[in-house]
Amino acid sequence: MELRRRRLVLAGYGAVGRALTALLAQAHDELAQRYGLAFDVTAVATRRSGLLVTPDGVGPDMLAAIPQGRDTSRTPGLAQTTVSPDLAQAAAPPDLAQAAAPPGPTRAAASHGGTWPDLRSFLADPAAPYDVLVEITTQSPADGEPAATHLRAALGSGHDVVTANKGPIAWHEADLRRIAATTGARLRYEAALMDCLPAHPIRESIVPVGRVVAFAGIVNATTNGILSAMAVGRGAAEALAEAQRSGQAEADPRNDIEGHDAALKSTVLANLLLDPPELLTPASVDRRGLDTMPEGWPAEAAARGARVRLVARGESRGEGPTRTVHVRVAPEELPADDSLAAVGGTAMALRIESEYGGKLQLTLLAGPVQSTAYAILMDLVALERGAGR
Ligand SMILES: NC(=O)c1ccc[n+]([C@@H]2O[C@H](COP(=O)([O-])OP(=O)(O)OC[C@H]3O[C@@H](n4cnc5c(N)ncnc54)[C@H](OP(=O)(O)O)[C@@H]3O)[C@@H](O)[C@H]2O)c1
Repeated sequence: MELRRRRLVLAGYGAVGRALTALLAQAHDELAQRYGLAFDVTAVATRRSGLLVTPDGVGPDMLAAIPQGRDTSRTPGLAQTTVSPDLAQAAAPPDLAQAAAPPGPTRAAASHGGTWPDLRSFLADPAAPYDVLVEITTQSPADGEPAATHLRAALGSGHDVVTANKGPIAWHEADLRRIAATTGARLRYEAALMDCLPAHPIRESIVPVGRVVAFAGIVNATTNGILSAMAVGRGAAEALAEAQRSGQAEADPRNDIEGHDAALKSTVLANLLLDPPELLTPASVDRRGLDTMPEGWPAEAAARGARVRLVARGESRGEGPTRTVHVRVAPEELPADDSLAAVGGTAMALRIESEYGGKLQLTLLAGPVQSTAYAILMDLVALERGAGR
């Protein structure tokens, strides 16, 4: 059987990128047999290595040669990320723009991109050798850059996009949709929400009639792991170190601990599930992170039979022209019989309340980085099966 070959450019090749190329190799035969599909990585860009373009396919040796491991010069050490009042000071809001500043442009000097001096110009070229941009660069909660620039360039030149990067969607979804509508390109971002826990199908198939009126979720696995460890008297720093080793924590762990990652996801979830009169941005989220909570709270709550969780809540209030949508992220003490209290460790869960269907909860029992890669693959396959968005 002749395979339909789809060429991928990977913008970013860190923990998620490596898990994705491993998964593509593992699923190669099944993709060919079930769907007649083959995915070839024809370009990869990272900040340190620049742009590498190989129209015949970037081989495993070339991928293996790309520097691994996070650039810790931009990542605070564990001493700074212990959940304590000190953290609140160390990561006060004025530092955010600096701490979360988008990484610099791809280094043209290291580029093997031929006619393209950098990633953006490659993505913006309608004739560049790729069909789908997989955007998996470092998260920037402050403005969604440089990913938003990458997405605009690819969608604007008519290329489909799949992303695990929530920043550009949370900040710029309306604009990205407008560009995609102009060129007919498609944009999918299941992996940006809760890994492979299916959030989009809630709107598309689980609640096809009537509104979702509220959601509550544990949307950040790293902080859930930290709170679960603290509940049994373990240190927050140890749990964070585990999440960093597994590749699950954000490159800058303050994005997890201060609730930025959860705020970005809640914004996208609210826009997806609650149909706000105008699309929200993270600026409207009432956000508090673990850095604002008393250090002994998780263990004290556990002694009372309760659990502290970082809960993301979205709610639609009112009707008609006065209807509004509110989103909040904060640590909460949940009684033992709350369905989110039972979601421990690095699990994530999303509970929705719909107009006609009552309450429903989906749980991803463990969210390793492989489940993010799997969500990307779900979207890549969906594109080939003709699903839009
Ligand atoms: N890890 C997870 O479990 C998970 C789950 C869901 C969603 N996500 C999202 O997926 C994305 C990737 O996560 P990750 O864990 O793979 O991150 P990561 O390990 O820190 O890797 C990020 C990659 O992006 C590259 N990069 C940064 N700026 C760039 C630029 N301007 N141009 C080209 N490449 C650039 C980095 O290059 P250098 O290595 O040279 O710095 C690195 O290869 C993030 O947006 C994250 O929020 C991650």
